[in-house]
Amino acid sequence: MSLRLGDVAPNFKATTTAGEIDFYEYLGNGWGVLFSHPADFTPVCTTELGKTASLQNEFAKRNVKVLAVSVDPLDKHLGWIKDINETQKVNVDFPIIADENRIVANLYGMIHPNASETFTVRSLFVIGPDKKVKLTITYPASTGRNFVEVLRVIDSLQLTANYSVATPADWKEGEDVIVVPAVSTEDAIKKFPKGVKVVKPYLRYTPQPNK
Ligand code: BEZ
Repeated sequence: MSLRLGDVAPNFKATTTAGEIDFYEYLGNGWGVLFSHPADFTPVCTTELGKTASLQNEFAKRNVKVLAVSVDPLDKHLGWIKDINETQKVNVDFPIIADENRIVANLYGMIHPNASETFTVRSLFVIGPDKKVKLTITYPASTGRNFVEVLRVIDSLQLTANYSVATPADWKEGEDVIVVPAVSTEDAIKKFPKGVKVVKPYLRYTPQPNK
């Protein structure tokens, strides 16, 4: 059965381009993004890994460790990284799992047999410091993901975890956020000194607390 939000993300040990990794040890007490690709030396994947490398500072700022998965062997990954660095003008310094035996792919349900019997689709999991799954997204092989959106969701998840606020449709960093229903308006006024705007009793906004 596939992993659902709130499930514990299974631990594993894997061979990667940065050596042997124990997933939980790699994550430590921070957040994680685990994401799969159909295959090495493919065009969309090359741009995705390049984009992720270019956003490494953004992931680090949010205390997020990134880990990619592809079912190709280690030597192929190492050759591909050279191409990614050359063509995307980056330095890929996050690990890519050599999941030749599809252990991680099967553990995380990354193979969707009606799309491909053998290759992983574009699955992405955000994992919280409690090792629980906070976000799952699945894209088809032919569509490159929007990694700015992944960062936006991580910002929203971290705001909810730290301040009990939610984020409205199309929210962007710096815009007002929503007081979660579990917090009464009376408590919200005490909790959010920048102010609470009550549009309806169930729809209350406050400026982003960590800005
Ligand atoms: C790829 O680059 O990974 C890809 C592109 C088109 C179809 C399937 C995969």
